[in-house]
Amino acid sequence: MTHRAPAPADVAAAPGHWRPRYHITGVRNWINDPNGPIHLDGRYHLFFQANPHAPAWGPPHWGHVSSPDLVHWTRHRTALAPENGRPDADGCWSGCLRIIDGRPVIYYTGVVGEDDDRVESVCRARGSADLLTWEKDPAGPLLPGPPTELGSGFHRDPFLWQDGSRWQLLLGSGTTAGERHGQVLRYESPDGSQWRYRGVFFAAPRRIDGLDLGELWECPQLVASGSSTALVVSCQVPDAPRPLMHAVGFVGSIVDGRFQGAPAGLLDHGDVFYAPALTTDAAGRTLLWGWAQEVVPPSTQATMGHVGALTVPRRLTVGDGRLEQEPVPELAALRLAPVGAADAPVEPALELAGAPVDDGWTVTDDVARLRIRAADSGGSLVVEVADPVGGERAFTLRRAAGNQVRVFVDGSLVEVFSDGAALTTRTYWARPRVRVSAPRRSDLRVWQLDGAVVR
Ligand code: FRU
Repeated sequence: MTHRAPAPADVAAAPGHWRPRYHITGVRNWINDPNGPIHLDGRYHLFFQANPHAPAWGPPHWGHVSSPDLVHWTRHRTALAPENGRPDADGCWSGCLRIIDGRPVIYYTGVVGEDDDRVESVCRARGSADLLTWEKDPAGPLLPGPPTELGSGFHRDPFLWQDGSRWQLLLGSGTTAGERHGQVLRYESPDGSQWRYRGVFFAAPRRIDGLDLGELWECPQLVASGSSTALVVSCQVPDAPRPLMHAVGFVGSIVDGRFQGAPAGLLDHGDVFYAPALTTDAAGRTLLWGWAQEVVPPSTQATMGHVGALTVPRRLTVGDGRLEQEPVPELAALRLAPVGAADAPVEPALELAGAPVDDGWTVTDDVARLRIRAADSGGSLVVEVADPVGGERAFTLRRAAGNQVRVFVDGSLVEVFSDGAALTTRTYWARPRVRVSAPRRSDLRVWQLDGAVVR
């Protein structure tokens, strides 16, 4: 037997078993926000911010995957890439996809320049019927930058909806005077081409009831449900350390072109979820994907083959001033073999389901550990993570005692669902295999999930 000392590069490289398999990641390197989800001609299409060239945020491209069933995904060629000399020379930032006069159209944020000199315009690309080929508008940006009266350069992430015979377009922005806070701007158009600024659609102070809403809102998303309307924004403090802050929902209604609503809380109770994108599918369900960030130091990130992932598709429901989420039922098709207590350690591509009690459930490789347990006589669920990379963190979800909890583990990515609440975090395993244990095993079912569904 020969022993070969690993080359220094091997020693430093982040382990491949951190990469999620049944979640969407990039082919390699970096991804962030989900963009432009749409259910068209029987397929779900999902785009995302990608830097194919480095394991760090960089001039964003639009990556593209599609699926017939929300489980099996096919990768497609890059939909949009930054181009020198164009209004997206430094990035094709987030936006949405709509069908306008029968043609697919991407509205996205074109970016030129950096920091205080950055110009954020609204750009457009028209697509082929199969959404695989995109042609940018030769006429340049639809909206070259923020309205002059705004005083803020933040003018990003177009979200459109049709309101009778007119199109409405929302953009994320923020104020610059006094205590800064987020705001959403509205534009209106008869045809999707000629836009008129119609003012601030919604704004809220920096903090409401202890909830920090940041200085800038990104990726506004709107969904109508019965008589209520929900507005989701991603709250940020520019230049704050990553992970970025959180996504917040408001529930209310639109009155005279402005949204009026009250906070409906965080969309996710973990530490890595951001920039969710929403769509309504042919069955009328509101689906949502978020960006799952990483909790690694930059030196570790620089060695990773894949950085960032999209969450599983979640169904969002709006009711009674609340936003609820659950994993789509289609995900049951990921289940392969059940995993028993006496089984050998398995790859971290797992689903756990049941009603945890005080001792809870533990997933561990003997170095890193994820624990899910009930507390407060079952009235809350505590999720504890301890690993050498992300450190020790604990999160709490309120719940009704005895209700079912579902946990998805996929490489380092962890998603927990309980009573309509969601929690996304990371556990950076030290070893490629983990063991699941629960003192009261009858409360827990475990499945190995299919890690070969994104091709
Ligand atoms: C949110 C965000 C968006 C922007 C994109 C750039 O994470 O900052 O506002 O369009 O990422 O990648």
